[in-house]
Amino acid sequence: MSKINAVITGIGSYVPDYKLTNEELSKIVDTSDEWITTRVGIKERRILKNKNLGASFLGIEAVKNLFSKKKVNPEEVQMVICSTSTPDYLFPSTASIIAEQTGMTNTYAYDIQAACTGFIVGLTAASNHIETGRYKKILVVSTEKMSSIVNYDDRSTAPLFGDGAGCALVESTTENIGFIDSIIKNNGKGLKHLHMKAGGSPTSHTTVDEKAHSVYQEGTHVFKHAVSDMAEVSAEIMQKNELSSEDVNWLIPHQANLRIIDAVIKRTEIPYEKVCINIQKYGNTSSASIPLCLAEYENQFTKGDNIILTAFGAGFIWGALYLKWGY
Ligand code: ACO
Repeated sequence: MSKINAVITGIGSYVPDYKLTNEELSKIVDTSDEWITTRVGIKERRILKNKNLGASFLGIEAVKNLFSKKKVNPEEVQMVICSTSTPDYLFPSTASIIAEQTGMTNTYAYDIQAACTGFIVGLTAASNHIETGRYKKILVVSTEKMSSIVNYDDRSTAPLFGDGAGCALVESTTENIGFIDSIIKNNGKGLKHLHMKAGGSPTSHTTVDEKAHSVYQEGTHVFKHAVSDMAEVSAEIMQKNELSSEDVNWLIPHQANLRIIDAVIKRTEIPYEKVCINIQKYGNTSSASIPLCLAEYENQFTKGDNIILTAFGAGFIWGALYLKWGY
């Protein structure tokens, strides 16, 4: 019997219309277009202004985009895996809300928390499920309303984040394409350098006044880890799979900082024109950044292309995934 592989057969995406530009941001907080552009590489980010809508709304729109593009019957999807750091509720899962609102009536659904590495972790889980032969269609959705956990009085984090969602349909195939390998690593010592102080349990009255429900980041420390860990794990997955920089058709790095992306490019020696970058338009959309890049560059991919995804996020958790494009 031929081996069952897991392959991405469709990508969907959604970003809200509202563009928060560096110019507008510099009227809210003490920063400038020049600082943000040179230190991070962001020009604008999208913000979901409606305070009554959360990450599920963004995810639902991304899934609807995929379903209409690829003519997917929602009833055939067997599992929904959602990665988000901004769930609508601690429970039930955001995946469950997305499934219900998009007509996926024959699925089970759950969330994962892997910060900015969530899409790679979700895709790895989906591929593992499919390779067992028990599942044929799984949806991985990464959706983030980062604006709901950003303190816009804090200039060290306010410019960085944006809202958005992306998703991938993963299906079984006996063709020699799709998911090949992933390496995912964790270092819990990262906790004190990057976290949200409140919002878990136990709760207290004071945390809202203290603005503790927002991203706390020691930027320089996280930067150093992100640079070395993302670059190393990308090189490691290439070595493990005997891929030279010429063999890689596309590198899709998590979009946190253009200088981090530059470091990955330098370490892997993958030419700049093969690297998918859209941080200038969307900022850091956490786990949604890789599927948003996939959606943007999808038309340039060819069946069989060797693609490396890599990400780094709170935990710390980071990793790289190697796949062969399926269409
Ligand atoms: N505008 C103007 N000046 C600023 C701003 C701002 N928005 N923010 C900081 N500064 C100033 C600082 O006060 C400091 O001034 P000083 O030298 O007078 O003290 C100077 O700029 C340098 O500050 P640093 O924090 O050292 O700036 P750095 O070059 O490290 O850039 C940044 C900060 C962009 C946050 C960078 O460290 C970074 O990208 N870190 C990694 C982010 C990341 O990858 N996160 C993981 C994923 S996100 C997740 O998991 C949720």
